[in-house]
Amino acid sequence: MPITTCVFDAYGTLFDVSAAARMAAQDPALSGLSGTWADLAEDWRRKQLEYSWLRAITKQHCDFWQVTKDGLDWAMDARGLKDPAMRKRLLQLYRELDAYPEVADVLARLREMGKATAILSNGSPGMLADAVTSAGLSDRLDAVISVEDIGIFKPSAKVYDLVGEHFVVRPQDVLFVSSNGWDAAAAASYGFRVAWVNRRGDPVDRMPGQPDHILSNLTQILDLDDI
Ligand code: LAC
Repeated sequence: MPITTCVFDAYGTLFDVSAAARMAAQDPALSGLSGTWADLAEDWRRKQLEYSWLRAITKQHCDFWQVTKDGLDWAMDARGLKDPAMRKRLLQLYRELDAYPEVADVLARLREMGKATAILSNGSPGMLADAVTSAGLSDRLDAVISVEDIGIFKPSAKVYDLVGEHFVVRPQDVLFVSSNGWDAAAAASYGFRVAWVNRRGDPVDRMPGQPDHILSNLTQILDLDDI
């Protein structure tokens, strides 16, 4: 059966999460970031995700904007950066992250092929609305689904359930696309067909679920046999 529905993770998959620190570092007023922005972005992302998993495991949910702020505070603290204006600017830029260059075209092509397109993300509805609008993707997505509908983060299976509830499709009708190896693994265990977009050439995650496809960018989705 062909895939009817293409569902994308947001952060790291459609939106470049390192763009906020990279762009902030270009501001002469934030020169403290010039040599350190890439490491700061890496730590920020890592702590954001760790906090999401810890809050899911310990049932202490808060929304993704809170763990995004908490992750940034940890990453700035680790470098002795105590600049409220820098923090404010980094968070502002996180609300309007660049989309990867191929995203708009790939979404448009999939819709021309008759596929439904959606985001399924940890992001809060407000964060996702800002990111989708600033990247100009609003008219290329049939749905933007946030975990805030159920109040637990990925990789809880309850999050992946939201796709079937929204589109009334079976897991095997769905291509789930994520650049996060752990998200791809969990989605494969759930029963989705999965494309892992491995932009950085990372090793495959040692988890029970394995992606059906390993791609280096989103354009390759258009050439998959099962699309
Ligand atoms: C998301 C994070 C996990 O968008 O990248 O759900």
